[in-house]
Formats: sequence, C-alpha cells, structure tokens
Amino acid sequence: MFILNQQNSIANTYLAEIRDTKIQTDRLRFRKNLERLGEILAYELSKSLQFGTKEITTPLETTGINMVKSQPVLICVLRAANPFYQGFLNIFDHSDSGFIGAFRTEEINDNQEISIELSYQAAPDISGKHVIIIDPMLATGKSFVKTVKSLLNNGKPEKIHVASVIAAPEGVAYINEQLGTDLNLWTCALDSKLNEKSYIVPGLGDAGDLAFGPK
Ligand code: URA
Repeated sequence: MFILNQQNSIANTYLAEIRDTKIQTDRLRFRKNLERLGEILAYELSKSLQFGTKEITTPLETTGINMVKSQPVLICVLRAANPFYQGFLNIFDHSDSGFIGAFRTEEINDNQEISIELSYQAAPDISGKHVIIIDPMLATGKSFVKTVKSLLNNGKPEKIHVASVIAAPEGVAYINEQLGTDLNLWTCALDSKLNEKSYIVPGLGDAGDLAFGPK
C-alpha cells in the first residue's frame, strides 16, 4: 500500500487544511486541496504504469519521448470524489472516465454495520486496462468493494487501483479480505480507526458535505 504523506510534506500541508475545522469550512479551498492531493497521488501512481517511447516532431527534428503507454480509466464515485477525481483527470487528461453513485443507507444491520447502495452507473469497457477507482474516504471499504464488483461487468481489467485521500485500517482489511491483495491501494494518509458511526478518526468529517453542502 502506498501512503503519500509518509514521503511528501507538501501533501501534509493540504491534508492539514482539509482536516482543520477552522479552514475546512472554506468550500472552495477544501475542493482545491482535494484536487491538489489528487494530482500528487496521480503523479505517484503514474510511476507504476508502463512507459513507452512515442515519436514526436518538433520544428527542428523528430525525437522519442518516454510517456505512459496507455492512460488508465478513471472511476469517480459520486458525489464526494468529484474534486479528488478532477486532480487525477488533470494528470491523466486523455483518460476515459466512468461514474458510479454510491451512498450510505440509513439501515444498520444487526452487527451495527452500515450498508451501501449503488445507484447511477456509466462506465466504459475496462478490458485490459489499468482502472483507478477514486473515492476520498476509504472508511468501511464497502463502497469500493461494491464498485469493483459492479465494474467487473464491464470487462477484465489489467489492474485495479484504489485511490483515497484518507483510509482507515478497517477498510483496508475489508478490501483485502473481499478482493484479495492483487489490487493496488493508494492513499494520501492512513488514519487510526473508525468510530461507531463508521467515520474515520481523526479523519475530516463528511467529505461530500464539506465539498458541496449538506444533503
Ligand atoms: N465518508 C466521509 O465523508 N467521512 C468519513 O469519515 C467516512 C466516510
């Protein structure tokens, strides 16, 4: 698992701002910081993709440039992922994108677990592709797992990457248990735990509400 803030202090500045109750209420800044974190994480992830040489012609000569061979498919989990996804799209600007709506229902089962429903889905064929599923808060891991399972109807990908801003150990364990360890997990920070309402602690609160207002 790749954890950005262990090696990038700029990321920590943005993370501090999205967590800080005195700063996070500035919605424009909150969304911008998520976007900036998306850009940095996408850059780090790009190093794991296959490179190839492409010939381009300048006014002076033809030369080979090393670049990512095939841009990954980006999957934006609505609605909280929008700003973080935009950061990925800024870096992988030729990527195909898919959109999936995932939301917590009010129902809590006998084990006091929340349940996740998927709604709107528009996603491209992912056969043979690297696919990055983008959701800022990896809390229980349930929306990631449901999203991956649903996406597999759109082909067999080369590799699945899961990208979050903040992850909880419980969610990481759930993803590994449900989907195996053959996918790549990328996060900007790994926090301590979930609380009784399945919010990440210390976390930042509700990412969707902070970015777009209460539902
Ligand atoms: N979703 C959020 O927005 N915050 C959490 O802490 C967990 C899930």
